[in-house]
Amino acid sequence: MQLLIGTSNPGKLREYGLLLAPLSVRLLSLKDAGLESVDIEEPFDTYIENALHKARRYADLSGLPTLADDSGLSVDALDGRPGVYSARYAGGGDRDRYMKLLGELEGVPDEQRTARFTCVIALVFPADTHPPVTTVGVVEGRIAHEPTEGGQVGFGYDFVFIPQGYAVAFSALPMNEKNHLSHRGIAIRAMMSHLETWIKEKTNTEKP
Ligand code: IMP
Repeated sequence: MQLLIGTSNPGKLREYGLLLAPLSVRLLSLKDAGLESVDIEEPFDTYIENALHKARRYADLSGLPTLADDSGLSVDALDGRPGVYSARYAGGGDRDRYMKLLGELEGVPDEQRTARFTCVIALVFPADTHPPVTTVGVVEGRIAHEPTEGGQVGFGYDFVFIPQGYAVAFSALPMNEKNHLSHRGIAIRAMMSHLETWIKEKTNTEKP
């Protein structure tokens, strides 16, 4: 049984590998499916539409059940920006984006640096053999004054996001601890029962 993880973001792929390890399913990356050169746009202004769009396109191209997510960081002092536009907030790489964010927040005191990550995950089946499923996860926190760089596993805005109740950024936490708290971890735990149902169904129909 195979499940395609429809992301070209290596950070997300590593997290899904750990989050979905308990399932008896073989996870395929876009590279495994020969789709590494296919970049799907995020044309919508809601997470759910973008997540469904990405999962549906990759499911159509691969013929495999596919998980994809759309995520973003909403900062209260910036009226919710960058939000669904987090990937497009600045050109260049992750560092350009989080340094731009720190620049926009220069001089903003701690109590006004509140922010949250949102993740919407979509599970889509090829040829619509099952209806699509979406789940959401949100984690509250605040934006640091300086990035915490040099960790092993962080990506995106992890270097500047301090989850609520913690004194350090996501990038300073081991991946299993980030997964325990994170928007993606929450959304995937909500998705687990749907994945387990699909696996059980498939196992039963494939029995001789
Ligand atoms: P997208 O979901 O691939 O469109 O990602 C939106 C933006 O948010 C990209 O810049 C990602 O690197 C960033 N991002 C998504 N998930 C996370 C996360 O878990 N931590 C930090 N940044 C993230």
